[in-house]
Amino acid sequence: MTSAAGDGSPRRILVTAALPYANGPIHIGHLVEYIQTDIWVRFQRLRGHRTLFVCADDTHGTAIMLRARKEGRSEVDLIADMQASHLADFGGFDIQFDNYGSTNSDENYRLCRQFWEALRAAGLVTERSVRQLYDPEAGTFLADRFVLGTCPVCQASDQYGDNCDKCSATYSATELINPRSTLSSATPEVRDSDHLFVELEQLHDFLEDWTQNGEHLQPEVANYLKGHFLGEPLRDWDISRPAPYFGFEIPDSPGNYWYVWFDAPIGYVASTSQWCEQHGERLTDWWQNPDTEVHHFIGKDITYFHTLFWPGMLRTAGFNLPTKVHIHGFLNVNGEKMSKSKGTFIMASTYLKHLDPAYLRYYFASKLGPRLDDIDLSPSEFVAKVNSDLVGKVVNLASRTAKFAAKLGLAPDYPDDGGLFERGAQAGQAIAVAYEECDYAKAMRLIMELADQANPFVENAQPWVLGKDPGREAELRDVCTVALNLFRQLAVYLSPVLPRLAQQCGELLNDEIRDWDQSQHPLLGVSVNKFKHMLKRVKPEDLQAMIDESKQAPTDEQSSAGEAPAEGNDPWNDSAEPLQAEPLADTCTIDDFVKVDLRVARIVAAEHVPEARKLLKLTLSLGGDVRKNVFAGIKAAYEPEALVGRLVVCVANLAPRQMKFGLSEGMVAAAGPGGADVFLLAPDSGARPGERVH
Ligand code: 2FM
Ligand code: ZN
Repeated sequence: MTSAAGDGSPRRILVTAALPYANGPIHIGHLVEYIQTDIWVRFQRLRGHRTLFVCADDTHGTAIMLRARKEGRSEVDLIADMQASHLADFGGFDIQFDNYGSTNSDENYRLCRQFWEALRAAGLVTERSVRQLYDPEAGTFLADRFVLGTCPVCQASDQYGDNCDKCSATYSATELINPRSTLSSATPEVRDSDHLFVELEQLHDFLEDWTQNGEHLQPEVANYLKGHFLGEPLRDWDISRPAPYFGFEIPDSPGNYWYVWFDAPIGYVASTSQWCEQHGERLTDWWQNPDTEVHHFIGKDITYFHTLFWPGMLRTAGFNLPTKVHIHGFLNVNGEKMSKSKGTFIMASTYLKHLDPAYLRYYFASKLGPRLDDIDLSPSEFVAKVNSDLVGKVVNLASRTAKFAAKLGLAPDYPDDGGLFERGAQAGQAIAVAYEECDYAKAMRLIMELADQANPFVENAQPWVLGKDPGREAELRDVCTVALNLFRQLAVYLSPVLPRLAQQCGELLNDEIRDWDQSQHPLLGVSVNKFKHMLKRVKPEDLQAMIDESKQAPTDEQSSAGEAPAEGNDPWNDSAEPLQAEPLADTCTIDDFVKVDLRVARIVAAEHVPEARKLLKLTLSLGGDVRKNVFAGIKAAYEPEALVGRLVVCVANLAPRQMKFGLSEGMVAAAGPGGADVFLLAPDSGARPGERVH
């Protein structure tokens, strides 16, 4: 079914990209997926397959409810604005959906009911009471990410409600010691409420078979599911949330709402349904038809939902199962997570103010393979690839010859090009297979190999020299005919990635690019239009301006409902207590300050001091072979094993102090009132042991 379809029979393909949450703008991390999917869709259409690309905003859940409250407006108002902003961003990157819906739509509600009734009828729904933390000030139950407290296992402070990042223990939020709500800082109450669950285990055999056979998943995903979930009974899926919750109330369970992850994937079907209504088509032809292929594109973080819950729901409700779930990795910048302080947390809209979307489309295409590896954006590689590949090798073929061809037109017969066009045409099959398999990096490599072969032809033929000699017009026309046909062949192959370049090529040669087959036959005997500029070189200063602006712009990092409290004028709502408990010290001069030599250090060993109640013994590395032993009063806050490897700030020139247990040669910097509430200071990643803190 998923062949590169050299067989000529058109396929009917429904494609989706994950529905973005309506609680924040689109950033370049999101764009990896939407660009990846848009390229695949454009490729399928170019191959002549009937392809529908639908998406929607994912609008429900606590995060949206809290954000709307914080902004003092209704959820409906918030999600309408967000949808407009998402659509503008996608449009700016030439990501073209056939329909872009919303999970908060009538179609979605109707379909949710249909899926729900099917789950009920199949006997998969069960009800039981759940004990959860409730924030009496914010008036809402607290998802695990909205609770912080002390780990019940290792006593580490400030751990979220599901697991401890110090000792990796998993627990329930109600087990946290001294829990507090991140929404209001209130101490949560424990409350019981009835929840509805889907007994996924009843579908175990089906899911085992579907995930492990039939190539619906990349092999590493199938193995991951087998190793992590399918070896034991599948856990019941908690599918309802009690009020208050922004979502759809469950018709046969008043006061309870479908959990956002229930109605989100149904949004794929609802968006298709909207399109069908607008185009006089039947939904069943797309979603209940063995001749339709369904392809989902998602990020690896939402694998579980799309490979276990969603197939389980589809199967139960009698809808098409995904033909394939295509899963990609995350985006890093310079090998690190995107970071606001470094200006690498780049919003789509910020990018568009400074750079051409074609650059990012091509750059991502050149990095995306068929596996789940994270991809890395390196600004210097970005500049080099765009300037050398796109401008230097591809557009160059046209810009060096088109102005002559505008006077002469293309030759009526294809001249001898030493087999270049033919070789290019033959490469088409391998390029198509690479696109089909989402190995765009390979497709781009193959295309650039062709460009590498084409350029020497133009350099040797020197059209700019021929153009000065009126007696060599026929020769010049032949050279231009070859160069522009090789350019066009590349433009066809690149058109899923670079639709604007393909359009410009079509306008130049009076022949719109719309079919892969155009790469197989040269265009002859036609007039050529005046050459218009196609793609500019990237200027590193534009990239820098984008990075600088990204350091200023507000991002989700700052505004996500998970981090900011719900109410109040001060969005951070920080307590005045620490300063009251310890007022600021007398002013010191810079000369006083520099006497204290603060350095970045790495903890290379940490151990208990059996005789000491509060101390851990830490061995710090300041780089090279410089080591210092330090006794730190952090025993109640940290497990020694959890400290090894992390960076801290140490007072490196503190006079050594002989203690009962040994010599302490410095101090590690920490904040907090003491006991379990001690917080080591950590430099951002990138700092190196031995570096001075200024
Ligand atoms: O992870 C996310 O951003 C979700 N909003 C994706 C939902 S995809 C689908 F299931 F709706
Ligand atoms: Zn712990």
